[in-house]
Amino acid sequence: MRTQVGIVGGGPAGLTLALLLERQGIECVVLESRSREYVERRVRAGLLEHNTVSLLHELGVGDRMGREGLRHGGIYLRRQCRTTHIPITKLTGRHITIYGQQEVVKDEIAAWCERGGALHFEVPDVAVGDLESDRPVIEFTLEGSHERLECDFIAGCDGFHGICRAALPDGLAVHYDYEYPFGWLGILADAAPATDELIYAWHERGFALYTMRSSTISRLYIQVPAGERLEKWSDARIWQELQIRLASEGWSVNEGPILEKGITPMRTFVCEPMQFGNLFLLGDAAHIVPPTGAKGLNLAVNDARLFAEALSSFYTSGSRSALDAFTETALRRVWRAQDFSNYMTQLLHDLGRGPFDRMLQLSRLDYLGQSTAAAHSLAENYAGLPAAPDF
Ligand code: PHB
Repeated sequence: MRTQVGIVGGGPAGLTLALLLERQGIECVVLESRSREYVERRVRAGLLEHNTVSLLHELGVGDRMGREGLRHGGIYLRRQCRTTHIPITKLTGRHITIYGQQEVVKDEIAAWCERGGALHFEVPDVAVGDLESDRPVIEFTLEGSHERLECDFIAGCDGFHGICRAALPDGLAVHYDYEYPFGWLGILADAAPATDELIYAWHERGFALYTMRSSTISRLYIQVPAGERLEKWSDARIWQELQIRLASEGWSVNEGPILEKGITPMRTFVCEPMQFGNLFLLGDAAHIVPPTGAKGLNLAVNDARLFAEALSSFYTSGSRSALDAFTETALRRVWRAQDFSNYMTQLLHDLGRGPFDRMLQLSRLDYLGQSTAAAHSLAENYAGLPAAPDF
């Protein structure tokens, strides 16, 4: 088997890349280790930046998102029953859209299949090799038979625990890594959101976030210690904690049956370089951000955009310069998102550092309410800085 670009992983990075390449007439094959049902059901974050929304529309996969996505013009920051509104659209002219990652994935898979794209699910034993040659290969088993896919390039879109980053030679990459001493317990609940926009809450007991998936489904998160066991959190205890941390005068969180709950560790990670020979890493395979800035999915989509542009320039002009610069180009936005996500995390979570840090956090939250300059800086990072060929 032969193709131009072999894509390992059928999440947002891999599927967005496939759709971009198809538009440029570049052939590719997508391999996903899980089943279609699994990737379409996996509950993940759900906040799309302005750039991401525009790109999905350009790719012709934005219709349902346009109908069902919730377009928001700002966010609330809350502490000690006081709420500050950050009017993102007013400050930046850009908006954000709430639409679950698995809905994006469903729409992308449907479009890819409809356009006759090659996509294989349940391919569990993928291995990549000959990465420094001009014929890197992907080996895997498909319906019981061993396959060898020769490519010009391999895109590693297989997530943080995937095989592609592990295929970089030992000692080649620098890993910038930090694990926070806390995680997020997240629930999906059959309850109408009691807020029109997201609420990020600072509280002595720890951070809480009120977000949503539709006018009838809420998604909520609370900060819990690292390594916390889910069994310690009954539904009643979760709601009680949410009511305390999100409290505001004359208002409460709408409760309802919990449809799903889980704990995600909070870490931050960057692999540099994001490439070796003709293997390129995109999305979570190369970097993880803490979810407080809602940047993970948006970075994955941006990596796909930049890599597709670099491939397009290679296939039209024969020049490798954009491909060679991929790491440098992609990491510019990755580090901006790292800084912003870590800023939001440190602004709002109990960092376990005592009263001095708590007072600094409260002062920063006050400042965001007092100063348009401070609010503007948060807003432009949150909505996502405009896309550019080198950013
Ligand atoms: C979500 O809707 O799941 C979500 C929104 C904003 C975040 C993180 C998660 O910062």
